[in-house]
Amino acid sequence: MASITIRNLDDEVKELLRQLAAENDRSMEEQARVMIRAAVDGQIGPVGRLDQIEKALLELANSQGAPTVASALAVKNLPRGTLSNKRILLIIGGGIAAYKALDLIRRLRERGAAVRVVMTSAAQEFVTSLSVGALSADHVFTDMFDRNDEHDVGHIRLSREADLLVVAPATADLMAKLANGHANDLASTVLIATDKPVLMAPAMNPKMWSYPATRRNRATLGKDGITFVGPAKGEMAESNEAGEGRMSEPLEIIAAVEALLDAGPKPLAGRRIIVTSGPTHEPIDPVRYIANRSSGKQGHAIAAALARLGADVRLVSGPVSIADPAGVKTIHVERAQEMRDAVEQLLPADAAVFVAAVADWRTENSAGEKIKKVAGEGPPVLRMVENPDILAGVGHHERRPGLVVGFAAETQDLLRNAEAKLSKKGADIIVANDVSQTSGIGPSGVMGGDRNRVRIVSRTGIEEWPEMTKDEVAARLAALIAARLKTIVV
Ligand SMILES: Cc1cc2nc3c(=O)[nH]c(=O)nc-3n(C[C@H](O)[C@H](O)[C@H](O)COP(=O)(O)O)c2cc1C
Repeated sequence: MASITIRNLDDEVKELLRQLAAENDRSMEEQARVMIRAAVDGQIGPVGRLDQIEKALLELANSQGAPTVASALAVKNLPRGTLSNKRILLIIGGGIAAYKALDLIRRLRERGAAVRVVMTSAAQEFVTSLSVGALSADHVFTDMFDRNDEHDVGHIRLSREADLLVVAPATADLMAKLANGHANDLASTVLIATDKPVLMAPAMNPKMWSYPATRRNRATLGKDGITFVGPAKGEMAESNEAGEGRMSEPLEIIAAVEALLDAGPKPLAGRRIIVTSGPTHEPIDPVRYIANRSSGKQGHAIAAALARLGADVRLVSGPVSIADPAGVKTIHVERAQEMRDAVEQLLPADAAVFVAAVADWRTENSAGEKIKKVAGEGPPVLRMVENPDILAGVGHHERRPGLVVGFAAETQDLLRNAEAKLSKKGADIIVANDVSQTSGIGPSGVMGGDRNRVRIVSRTGIEEWPEMTKDEVAARLAALIAARLKTIVV
């Protein structure tokens, strides 16, 4: 990381930094470097005075041309405290995903929410009430028959004093209890005694999630007005199994909380943004096609993240097996030519983000009937022709959006290819990701997996982002787009 000149900080921040450095037995420069690195690596932002120092350091580093801090600063500059004055009652169930509840508490508090926690007795097998209490900075409620708790707060007050009840992880057991009106412990009693909205983030093994009784309970709870976030598909934490049942990431849960309380920052309100996502299918005949491994997870996550920041998002999606993102208008297409036509019809727009893995080639003429295998004739010869280059088309379009972002999925020469793409395609930003099997990202790799490690290539330099979930990449990119659009006058 480039060094920054600390003496340019204002006196108050300099003094805070000096105290902090002394507490940690570091020089001020070292302390500054540690804090900037943590922010760039996407670690949870500090609160209070640390937050003030971190923001000042990022601003200073950015003004002194450090190439890697722009997106961290964009995230920092999103309005904070979106949940200030909101009271969340978090119920932690006994699932392996309980560890994610700790991060959820920090992130809720970081946004200004007051978080009170009820833990089931099974939950206490997975995380301790000591950690939960330290993070929530409040007493943790575990026992319905605790005389002190019942006298001081009482289960009815506990359930009513919150603005929202969040169950994370929501176990199969907790869902079954609530669907059937059981109230045999503090968590279930609080849940049926409340007059406030309830958000559930289920987490369980895919077999448990698809078990008929769980499906029935899910449907019943939906009808009873409970809102759900997730579960997602992916690898399970506890075994080598994969499927639907993974708890949504804390940021997704926060987005659902903000949506329910209508509280998120809306820096993209009034902006129209086109996003493409997924693969394209290029037909060979009516039953066969050429495709690629893109799942649409990253593009859909970006569309959702932009919508959460208030943008009017039009998503043009190739064939994928994931749901349309909430709050986004989705247009479904199959072929690259259809995707190009759909995108062109959506112009003008303030920004366009091309995440779709568009097939470079299609067959010159797809057969009208299924091509028959004829004995002795050998396989058919497929003549390929080039597909339209949607990114370049929009990058050089007369109605070009103010901000054009492309993705470069490469298996070799990542940065060289990304930099070449930037000028050739007329893009402002290229998000480069290594989709090779050796990328080191999870067993399923970037394509189809839930994680990504990207570099942001623009004319001002290259930002390297650490490995994160695709939702986190999406949230950070959306913040960066909001920051960039702010500087574009319409
Ligand atoms: C190691 C381990 C992991 C578990 N993970 C889950 C899980 O992810 N989801 C779930 O519904 N149940 C899970 N269970 C089962 C629950 O802990 C059990 O059903 C418990 O009664 C749930 O209690 P609660 O809903 O009151 O917290 C797990 C059990 C063990 C031993």
